[in-house]
This record gives sequence, C-alpha cells and structure tokens, in this order.
Amino acid sequence: MIYLKTSEEIELMQQANTLVSRTLGEVAKWVAPGVTTHRLDTIAREFILDNGGRPACLGYGGFPGTLCIEVNEVVVHGFPSNYTLREGDIIGTDCVVEYNGFHGDTCYTFPVGEIDPKVMALCKTTKESLYKGIEACVEGKRIGDIANAIQTYCEARGYTIVREMCGHGIGKKMHESPEVPNYGRRGIGPVIKNGMCLAIEPMVNMGSRNVKIASDGWTCSTKDGKPSAHYEHTIAMVNGKPQILTTFDYIQEVLGDRFI
Ligand code: MF3
Ligand code: CO
Ligand code: CO
Repeated sequence: MIYLKTSEEIELMQQANTLVSRTLGEVAKWVAPGVTTHRLDTIAREFILDNGGRPACLGYGGFPGTLCIEVNEVVVHGFPSNYTLREGDIIGTDCVVEYNGFHGDTCYTFPVGEIDPKVMALCKTTKESLYKGIEACVEGKRIGDIANAIQTYCEARGYTIVREMCGHGIGKKMHESPEVPNYGRRGIGPVIKNGMCLAIEPMVNMGSRNVKIASDGWTCSTKDGKPSAHYEHTIAMVNGKPQILTTFDYIQEVLGDRFI
C-alpha cells in the first residue's frame, strides 16, 4: 500500500526533514581526525531530543545508534563505536528523525581531512547521482525511471551499484512502500504520483557491487574492502515535481569550501 500524503501531511514531513537536516549540520561540526563515531552519535541524539524529535533508528529492530555509521568500506547500517576517525577516511552518517508523527531520512558522506582524489570522485558521483534520481521524479513516470537514472549515471563513470539495499517510501513509518532501487529498467515499477514521499539513497561502490553482512547482523560492507559512498534525500511529489524536503545546506554552511 502506497500512502499518498495530503499537503498538511507534507508540511509535517517538511518539519521532520528540516530537523534531520539540521542534525547532520551539527554532526558536520565534529567530523575530524581523532573524533570517535560514538561522539558523533551522541551529538546527533542530543540535538534531536533537544529539538523535540525522536531518534528513529535508535532501537529500530534493535539498532544501537541514532546514526548509521559508514566508514570507508562500510556501505550501510554500521554501529557507532569507539573507532577514531583518521585523515583520509570517508564517513557516511545516515539519520532518521520522527517529529510530530512523521519521518525525515537523510545521509551525507563526509571526507575526513584530505582524502584520495579517487575516493573524492566516488563521493561526488554518488551525490550527483542522487540529484539525477530526483530529477527523474516526474508525475506519471515510474520508480524504474529513478532507478535507471541513478544506475546509468554511476556505471558510466565506472562505479557499481549495491543491489541488496534500496530507497523507500517514507511517512508515518520510516520504511513504507514502494521500494526505490538504485538500479533497474526504465518504465517499470509503480507510477510516480503527487503526494508520494520517497527517500532516495544511492549506495555506490568503487570496486565490485558485492556486499557482506558482519556477524553483528547489521554492518553491511563491500566484499572487496573498497570504499562505498551513500547520500540520501527525502522528497515529496507536489504539483508533478519533486520537492526536496531534506537539505545539505546546513552541512555546506559548516564545511565551506570542504563541502563536496
Ligand atoms: N536510514 C536508513 C535508511 O535510509 C535506515 C536505518 S535502519 C536503522 O533507510 F535500523 F538504523 F534504523
Ligand atoms: Co537513511
Ligand atoms: Co532511507
């Protein structure tokens, strides 16, 4: 069942998504060599609670963090830990907030200090592919058009798409129908309609697309140990077009010319 949102509900979605975007802006202030991922998680949790939200990942299916932490070869769903960030790492922080009964979901992959230009290129392409996917959100087109736009953009640049994980509908629940894959054929899947709210989130690898799950049951990493990048926005379909409910502007304000 795909729940189409009313304009009142989309306004509530906007509030949740603004809060989650501001949360990653706070996290951005702390990303640096020497900082533990646990510290970033605490910053995010306290900021969300101080602003009347609920950290929706915390306790979700037993997940132990406010943030999913994605260092280097970790694709998604890594735990906050006492790992200390090092110069040259990349770290994805994926966060979901519930606010007034609705969810906001966003992820940003940060460089830690100076990083390998090849890894920077992976991050840039992944982020650009997110916007290609968003541009493909047109009323009357299909979910496969979003998927294909992301896949085509990334594969043309020599990267691979993780297939085991997808974007998703979002609203009163963190994960709703439909699934939004990052690969697939044009013209297939559910029709895109006004009122749809979607989390679009390419997960893109430098090496092979294959992934493995650690013995903790959650942490998903590339099989070959090569880096993976992940960016995510939540959008709402309004008047035939995507309205991006999350924003990286708060991150950009903090990072300045280090913003990817
Ligand atoms: N934020 C993730 C997503 O983009 C889901 C988090 S799983 C959780 O869909 F267990 F951490 F909540
Ligand atoms: Co997410
Ligand atoms: Co998501």
